[in-house]
Amino acid sequence: MRTPIIAGNWKMNQTPADAAAFVNEIKSDLDAITGVDKVVCPSFMAIPAVSELLSGSSIGVGAQNMYFEESGAYTGEVAPNMITPFCNYVILGHSERRAIFGETDELVNQKVHTALAHNLMPMICVGESFAQNEANETQAFVSAQVKAAFNGLSAEQAKQCIVAYEPIWAIGTGKSATVEQAGNIIKTSVRDTIQEIYDESVAQAIRIQYGGSVKEHNIADYMTHPDIDGALVGGASLKPSFVQLVQNAVVG
Ligand code: 13P
Repeated sequence: MRTPIIAGNWKMNQTPADAAAFVNEIKSDLDAITGVDKVVCPSFMAIPAVSELLSGSSIGVGAQNMYFEESGAYTGEVAPNMITPFCNYVILGHSERRAIFGETDELVNQKVHTALAHNLMPMICVGESFAQNEANETQAFVSAQVKAAFNGLSAEQAKQCIVAYEPIWAIGTGKSATVEQAGNIIKTSVRDTIQEIYDESVAQAIRIQYGGSVKEHNIADYMTHPDIDGALVGGASLKPSFVQLVQNAVVG
């Protein structure tokens, strides 16, 4: 049985002071929810404060990105060992990183290798654009993204990874994928692709999240699908009602 995982991707929101105030507001109620792994992913600047406030709690901390090199002349980048004192997770290959900052499948794969070498659990984001979806290219595109991200990983390493299927057209739009749409791609393009690369035991071990306009009112529906193991939540993770969203993921 896979433990579901709900992660909040705060993106470029919340100053360190805002983040600390928000964590103080939600911490005890979120901490009390059992049966699901809970993670918040603040901006780099807020990570130390959030991590300190959450130490000793059941709430994990993730970074939203990192570079794959250990150190050096990479102006503006953040190295893995700068986040490992604070984080257990790192989001890699988010569609905003791919689209706005030009991250390629190859770069994402390098980052996955580095994250695992530092015992960080990668949350690897995949997902198609609206145009690709309209052109019926979703299955092939997402499957190719999964293959590229897992390139060169052993079965044991693969099991440490979390995949987030986030159709780009559903992010921040309020147009969430239906449970059938999300579940179908998660099954056929993510889990079946992992089974193709490795075997059934690896495919069954990996947790796969859905992301894209997940709210407190629709999370329970996604959780009814046997292949959806949680969610990567953007906008709705910035509100105190995120606690209710997480609670709704385990009820029912
Ligand atoms: P929204 O939940 O705001 O649609 O964002 C999803 C997302 O990109 C999480 O990584």
